Amino acid sequence: MSRERLATRIVSWQRQHGRHHLPWQQTTDPYRVWLSEIMLQQTQVATVIDYYNRFLTRFPTAHDLAQADIDEVFALWSGLGYYARARHLHACARIVANEHGGCFPDNAQQLQTLPGIGPSTAAAIAAFCYGERAAILDGNVKRVLCRHFGIEQDISRADTLRSLAQLAQQELPSTKLIAAAPDAMARYTQGLMDLGATVCLARQPRCNACPVARSCVAKRSGQPQRLPVKAKRERAKPRRSLELLWLNAPGYVLLQKRPAQGVWGGLWCLPTDTTLAARWRLPPAQRMADFAHELTHFTMVICVWRVELSEALQELPVPDDDCRWVAYAELPDYGLPKPVRLLLGCGEA
Ligand code: ADE
Repeated sequence: MSRERLATRIVSWQRQHGRHHLPWQQTTDPYRVWLSEIMLQQTQVATVIDYYNRFLTRFPTAHDLAQADIDEVFALWSGLGYYARARHLHACARIVANEHGGCFPDNAQQLQTLPGIGPSTAAAIAAFCYGERAAILDGNVKRVLCRHFGIEQDISRADTLRSLAQLAQQELPSTKLIAAAPDAMARYTQGLMDLGATVCLARQPRCNACPVARSCVAKRSGQPQRLPVKAKRERAKPRRSLELLWLNAPGYVLLQKRPAQGVWGGLWCLPTDTTLAARWRLPPAQRMADFAHELTHFTMVICVWRVELSEALQELPVPDDDCRWVAYAELPDYGLPKPVRLLLGCGEA
């Protein structure tokens, strides 16, 4: 199969078998496409859909998002994880609103200069919104390329990534194909994503449904799931412990805003200062069962000390500046880390 055929086949397969009804496919508004791509960076389509719709209802334009308080952004993001994305999202909207008159740049190169937009996200936005010949290279696309072209090198190596980026660029639809079908870049980009998400699956590839199976090196080998090769981490993930204080008053709980830098930066959390209980001469704290929470680079072992208070709000100690008593009923308005939301019983898994 010639080079051209790969892109051509993916484009026509996308027309027939790809996904067409995802909410962000109904638009070429860069604000909407950008929002979806940021949400989809580390989160599955099924989870993103509701968040995406809620976000757009509250913030229909980059201006609306730029004017929002970061706490409200965190609250709407709460549960999607990887909160740096929410911080970057807000910073990006402010730059677009204040320095670009509310319009996103119209090419991948300039998009990449904005917070939270890496090369692959910039390429996706540019391909979907402007039909630019820019190559995406997310995890799914790396898998598709490694299998199709039989790339055996470790994809965690920088030199392998450079070759893959070159290959991704070479395989883009030709200018001739794009001239004949102006939607080719959007189709091709979506087609690669769809192929990775629905056919070229990591563990159980569905080669029978693949439009490029005939020319796939990994398929021919009989063990397509062997690729891509990714070196295992040498060391087990480190474990860190975190102590939290759950001051449970009638209808209220004490929350503390996390410092901007570090884990859960800027989110609201249970206080970590366990000396508080002694300073405020609170009743004895009860240690709850420890639980583990997986983060990208370490496992956090969370130990919660719970204190039952019977006082009404007016009689509770007045907290430090970064803390506040929050009504349980108002927790949905706060950006809380997922394990804290689950612990406080105000969120689904
Ligand atoms: N993952 C990243 N971008 C996506 C998109 N536009 N559609 C579906 N899944 C995606």
